[in-house]
Amino acid sequence: MFSSFINGGIAVLAYASLATAISSSAGRTVNVDGTFYYVPATAVSSLGVSWNELKVATSSGDDLIPMTVMSGDFSTFDASTLNSAIANFTAEDDVFSRGFLQAVYLISTTPSELHANLTDTLSTYGNKLFMVSATSNSSVSTTDCTVAIPNGPYFVSAYTGSIYQAFRLYSDFEGAFTEGTIGAEEGNYSTLSASIPGVQSPTIGVPSRLYYTKTKSQPLAGVRVGIKDIYDVAGTKRGCGSRAYYDLYPEANKTALAVQRIIDAGGIIVGKMKTSQFANGEAATADWVDYHSPFNPRGEGYSDPSSSSSGPGAGIGAYQWLDLALGSDTGGSVRNPAQVNGCYGNRPTHDLVALTNVMPLSPLMDTAGFLTRDADIWKAAGEILYTSNLTTFTSFPKTLYTTGFPVNASTEAEGVLLDFLVKLEGFLNTTSSVLDYDTMWSTSAQANSTSAPDLSSLLALTYPTLITKQQWELLGAPFLADYAAANDGRTPFIDPVPEFRWGYGKSKNTTLEDGIQNKTIFKDWWNESVMPKNAETCSENLLLYPGTLATPNYRNVYLDPPSLPAGWGVYNIAIFAGVPDMVVPVGQAPYNSTISNHIEYLPVAVDIIAAPGCDAVIFELASQLQAAGITRAPKAGSTMYRRDVGGRLE
Ligand SMILES: *[C@@H]1O[C@H](CO)[C@@H](O)[C@H](O)[C@H]1NC(C)=O
Ligand SMILES: *[C@@H]1O[C@H](CO)[C@@H](O)[C@H](O)[C@H]1NC(C)=O
Ligand SMILES: *[C@@H]1O[C@H](CO)[C@@H](O)[C@H](O)[C@H]1NC(C)=O
Ligand SMILES: *[C@@H]1O[C@H](CO)[C@@H](O)[C@H](O)[C@H]1NC(C)=O
Ligand SMILES: *[C@@H]1O[C@H](CO)[C@@H](O)[C@H](O)[C@H]1NC(C)=O
Ligand SMILES: *[C@@H]1O[C@H](CO)[C@@H](O)[C@H](O)[C@H]1NC(C)=O
Ligand SMILES: *[C@@H]1O[C@H](CO)[C@@H](O)[C@H](O)[C@H]1NC(C)=O
Ligand SMILES: *[C@@H]1O[C@H](CO)[C@@H](O)[C@H](O)[C@H]1NC(C)=O
Ligand SMILES: *[C@@H]1O[C@H](CO)[C@@H](O)[C@H](O)[C@H]1NC(C)=O
Ligand SMILES: *[C@@H]1O[C@H](CO)[C@@H](O)[C@H](O)[C@H]1NC(C)=O
Ligand SMILES: *[C@@H]1O[C@H](CO)[C@@H](O)[C@H](O)[C@H]1NC(C)=O
Ligand SMILES: *[C@@H]1O[C@H](CO)[C@@H](O)[C@H](O)[C@H]1NC(C)=O
Repeated sequence: MFSSFINGGIAVLAYASLATAISSSAGRTVNVDGTFYYVPATAVSSLGVSWNELKVATSSGDDLIPMTVMSGDFSTFDASTLNSAIANFTAEDDVFSRGFLQAVYLISTTPSELHANLTDTLSTYGNKLFMVSATSNSSVSTTDCTVAIPNGPYFVSAYTGSIYQAFRLYSDFEGAFTEGTIGAEEGNYSTLSASIPGVQSPTIGVPSRLYYTKTKSQPLAGVRVGIKDIYDVAGTKRGCGSRAYYDLYPEANKTALAVQRIIDAGGIIVGKMKTSQFANGEAATADWVDYHSPFNPRGEGYSDPSSSSSGPGAGIGAYQWLDLALGSDTGGSVRNPAQVNGCYGNRPTHDLVALTNVMPLSPLMDTAGFLTRDADIWKAAGEILYTSNLTTFTSFPKTLYTTGFPVNASTEAEGVLLDFLVKLEGFLNTTSSVLDYDTMWSTSAQANSTSAPDLSSLLALTYPTLITKQQWELLGAPFLADYAAANDGRTPFIDPVPEFRWGYGKSKNTTLEDGIQNKTIFKDWWNESVMPKNAETCSENLLLYPGTLATPNYRNVYLDPPSLPAGWGVYNIAIFAGVPDMVVPVGQAPYNSTISNHIEYLPVAVDIIAAPGCDAVIFELASQLQAAGITRAPKAGSTMYRRDVGGRLE
């Protein structure tokens, strides 16, 4: 073993005495070269190296040594191999940093010849201790660790030789999360105990990306996932956007099936994310009373993030360290946040996955969908969540319809939208045409038999009827009863929107049966007459509509009191027909912000609708469009794409 004595940068900020069982079980927070890390209580492996050998790499007063594991087939390991490994780790991972080179542990699958020029190079990185696994069969071999561990940054205890994973800590400065989570015993999770400076927001911990390798059975290995706080995650509380609800009920004892499928596929659950109250539509300033609405990171950062998957939308739009979020869509709750926060987002075919251990809004329309910046992660996540309920297909539909598209571009946003349409037509080798489903309805036998001359007469009251009656019965009434029983007959505070909607649900103005009947009439008509299934292409056609056109919707606006979410629009098609409606970000466009008094950029997105069960067609299309460069995976932050020197978006 050889070592050098450069002053590395480790300082322990806060950790309690090892003698107290409670604080050691919650892990520790450590600072390496100015960046905060969480060190879990449970070790993943151990080195059989003594204190005398390890102490050279410690900093005064601390036993935790930042250490990098480098494993591979290294017949020779010299300065250039070391530099190459460091460059690779830095490019692939946000948790690794040079501070972790304080100790290096080399594991080679073949006997490794260590070159003399390593010593000087290691010392330039501040290395104090270089260890080689015994299986590396090297002249400086020391020890094997007890359990094989992959590449990446770790912490090793100089006292015990225990090796711990490193979680980088991030401040949730956009307020997208309710709390950070960390895996605990036997499939349970617990609230992350760490806290770092930030704007009164939770701290989220993410493990090194280097620990994980995606495989066929683990296509989401290492993918960092946030979960909308209406899904149960065993060991943590579910708040559903209500302080009273969070306080009243205990930690969940089961993980929702939808979340479990993500975990089984290798996804890392890093936190619970904000929902508007009980997943009802709420506007930032007017309606969010119990909690503050998350911040939409796009533009100057003061556009409404939309709802109800507000946390998932804002978090995916804001944080490059977050890969995927699980939201839910009853009436637009994945699609709208995906559009305005600049990411992919899907409302799937209804009933593709059972929503057990999930808060209900309207089980007749509730769906579980994803938000993400990457079409390939989107597709992989869809495949593991909806599994065999996704219908297979052999080619893309050739019939492409649009509705609501501008004829000519009168704004830059419309130009982005029309440019995408032209490229999509080229990709599918087809020409789009306008679908006038309103006229198709008015001339249908169903319009005649229901005495509903237009779709608005049939459906304007359907959505409010279904959600208010179902949520009042399944959630509102039992919650109020449970709360009263636990609080001497008291009523909990309810935000204005759910309060108003539950009031309508209790009224006798419409009936659930009437709503179900109208929904069924529309569903049957749409799926038979407008968008039938096709053996080869799954869906006979695809329908596109503009999702968002870079229009600011400032959050500092006082709105009217709540009203019924009544009406008819293109966004209702998927809700009533039970078909997929998926948001694809296609670009960004400028606006002159009245807040920053500067030109800023907001997302441009398109929605794509297909026949029931044909979600896989759109997942595949989105993936291929991204691979072909027709769309680009957006970046997190104020702008989705950066302009290169030629003015093109990258
Ligand atoms: C270290 O030595 C090896 C073998 O001679 C050589 O290939 C490599 O370029 C050297 N690297 C450095 C950084 O000097
Ligand atoms: C770094 O990555 C490159 C490209 O994948 C690879 O060729 C090289 O072997 C890697 N370096 C090390 C030390 O693993
Ligand atoms: C270690 O490698 C050398 C050659 O590099 C070989 O002669 C020796 O048998 C190996 N020892 C073990 C234990 O594998
Ligand atoms: C999991 O969490 C629940 C709820 O906090 C708790 O009752 C249970 O004991 C935990 N199970 C394990 C194995 O830690
Ligand atoms: C798990 O939680 C549910 C819902 O709160 C409860 O009905 C059930 O009794 C709990 N089961 C156990 C084993 O604690
Ligand atoms: C497929 O959907 C049905 C409901 O339509 C559900 O009962 C079933 O569990 C789903 N299959 C899988 C593998 O999730
Ligand atoms: C759209 O542009 C075309 C070609 O530039 C022009 O002929 C047509 O009149 C325009 N239509 C409208 C509605 O502006
Ligand atoms: C596109 O469609 C046209 C007309 O059907 C056909 O002639 C042409 O070969 C197609 N091109 C490709 C690339 O599929
Ligand atoms: C409407 O229904 C009536 C009676 O059911 C029928 O006589 C009439 O032809 C229908 N009109 C259309 C346009 O289908
Ligand atoms: C159902 O449709 C009829 C028209 O056929 C309409 O009068 C009624 O308001 C609708 N009710 C609901 C709940 O959608
Ligand atoms: C029910 O309908 C009546 C008459 O149109 C209206 O005055 C009342 O406000 C409605 N009730 C609710 C809860 O919407
Ligand atoms: C943006 O709006 C402000 C206020 O109306 C105006 O002063 C400014 O010139 C505008 N900037 C641009 C680039 O249009």
